[in-house]
Amino acid sequence: MLRKYGVVIGLAIALSACQPTPTFLHPASSISSHEANLYWIILIMALVVFVLVEGALIWIVVRDRKRANDQELPAQIHGNMRLEVVWTVIPILLVISLFIMTVQTVNAVAAPASLKNDLNVRVVGHRWWWEFDYPDLGIATANELHIPVGGTAQISLESVDVIHSFWVPQLSGKTDAIPGQHNTMWLTGDQVGEYLGQCAEFCGTQHAFMRFKVYVDSQADFDAWVANQQQPAYQPQTEDEQVGFKEIDSGACAACHSLDPTEVNTDKVGPNLTHLFSRTTFAGGTFDLNEENLRSWLHDTQELKPGNDMEITIPPQQIDQIIAYLTHLK
Ligand code: CUA
Repeated sequence: MLRKYGVVIGLAIALSACQPTPTFLHPASSISSHEANLYWIILIMALVVFVLVEGALIWIVVRDRKRANDQELPAQIHGNMRLEVVWTVIPILLVISLFIMTVQTVNAVAAPASLKNDLNVRVVGHRWWWEFDYPDLGIATANELHIPVGGTAQISLESVDVIHSFWVPQLSGKTDAIPGQHNTMWLTGDQVGEYLGQCAEFCGTQHAFMRFKVYVDSQADFDAWVANQQQPAYQPQTEDEQVGFKEIDSGACAACHSLDPTEVNTDKVGPNLTHLFSRTTFAGGTFDLNEENLRSWLHDTQELKPGNDMEITIPPQQIDQIIAYLTHLK
């Protein structure tokens, strides 16, 4: 057991080392910018209050300390109307201004009413990966979400098992994905780039490895990505590819995975594989997607991500055939 977690933690450290730490203090959308601005204003206000109050306290303690030749108590003062008004009115004004700024921020980050050009995305939490469906485009994918720069994605959040929370620190706040309930949120990106997301609600042993990526693409890149995702799955050419294809399309893999680009996987356990290799990671953003990692995964998924739903033993020769086919799914 220890060794299993050692492998996972080691891989996670190796993976996280090459990626920037996501934080809303490096905002890349109007939502996160509003949140970051409010954070800095509150932090600065709190610092000013802290320095003034603690400074006054220390100054008074030092000034009025007991000295060796003190004979009498210092003057005993009871009540000072002017001071009491000052330290009552100033905090009230500060709290009122915080309230106003918070309400303004809440309004600014609230989901806008649906617009004509909105991109509708259905996000479904699974233990432990994310399903991303684009109902208007006929695309079902996983763990890597694409949105066009400056566009608005209207997101509908669901979960098939337990409560998860969808969070892309640089682009949005957190919203829970709750079984039996549709929550909504919106997402927008002001700068082309790659942004890390993370499940933000403890959902089981692999909660920390329920990650995802959001790609904010230029319109041309987004259109090209959509066109590619809508294509049917690669047709097997060689004999090995043919066997691998059959295993995935109608064999043991088919119970959980799909090779139909439009098939949402909500009732299935695993991600849609139609364009697997157009993604850069797998298993909930846990591992880089390449042939070597995929081979280790198919060899023993429970070793790499203990507790995941893929409990299957595949003979080595079949692994080769499955990989021969999978690596063509661009
Ligand atoms: Cu899903 Cu934590």
